[in-house]
Amino acid sequence: MRSTITLHLVASLDGFIAKKDNSISWMDTSDVYERGVTDDGAEVLQSIDCYVLGSRTYEHALELGWPYGDTPTVVVTKRKLPCTRKTVEFYSGDLRKLVGEILAPRYRNIWLVGGAMLGQSFLKLGLVDEIRLMIAPVTLGDGLHLFGDSGTEQKWHLKNVVGYRNGYVELWYARQASGS
Ligand SMILES: NC(=O)c1ccc[n+]([C@@H]2O[C@H](COP(=O)([O-])OP(=O)(O)OC[C@H]3O[C@@H](n4cnc5c(N)ncnc54)[C@H](OP(=O)(O)O)[C@@H]3O)[C@@H](O)[C@H]2O)c1
Repeated sequence: MRSTITLHLVASLDGFIAKKDNSISWMDTSDVYERGVTDDGAEVLQSIDCYVLGSRTYEHALELGWPYGDTPTVVVTKRKLPCTRKTVEFYSGDLRKLVGEILAPRYRNIWLVGGAMLGQSFLKLGLVDEIRLMIAPVTLGDGLHLFGDSGTEQKWHLKNVVGYRNGYVELWYARQASGS
């Protein structure tokens, strides 16, 4: 089975994925792009076999109301965190082993949904196959930077662009093989 790791994040136009106070109202939009599509993303969500999260994203997701349903979810942490759901397991250790020995044999469509720290760790190790970035129609000026420290140069192939009616744009890229 060939598995794919997709890094999926929502970012502001100026490249932040969270505000310092952790509030999320910046993701609300009243913008209207007349030629944009409307799509609730249900089909894409159904195709996801597993989510991978950093511990801070896990804690924030619990506060906000669990958005990952009953889909298996792996939380990366060195701490002993309370397990609140049957579908959640915790992992501590080498991220290459996590992908090669735990995720890839079990899951095909793996979504790494943040946060910045874990996303950057995966990028640095070359473990991200695809990036799906939702750009929100807002600038934040400050906050948690999406790609603050992501390692070396890497070329990406544009697979798709979707402009949504609410002013969001999704950029979907696949990693290009080195040398191409
Ligand atoms: N806009 C979006 O799409 C989006 C998506 C996700 C999250 N967010 C936001 O981003 C913020 C959280 O992001 P963040 O960057 O601060 O934290 P994060 O990546 O969610 O979690 C960081 C934690 O994950 C663990 N971790 C990360 N890399 C590791 C590695 N290589 N090895 C071992 N453990 C590792 C560590 O946990 P321990 O310290 O427990 O060991 C680390 O403290 C929240 O505000 C959240 O709401 C936004």
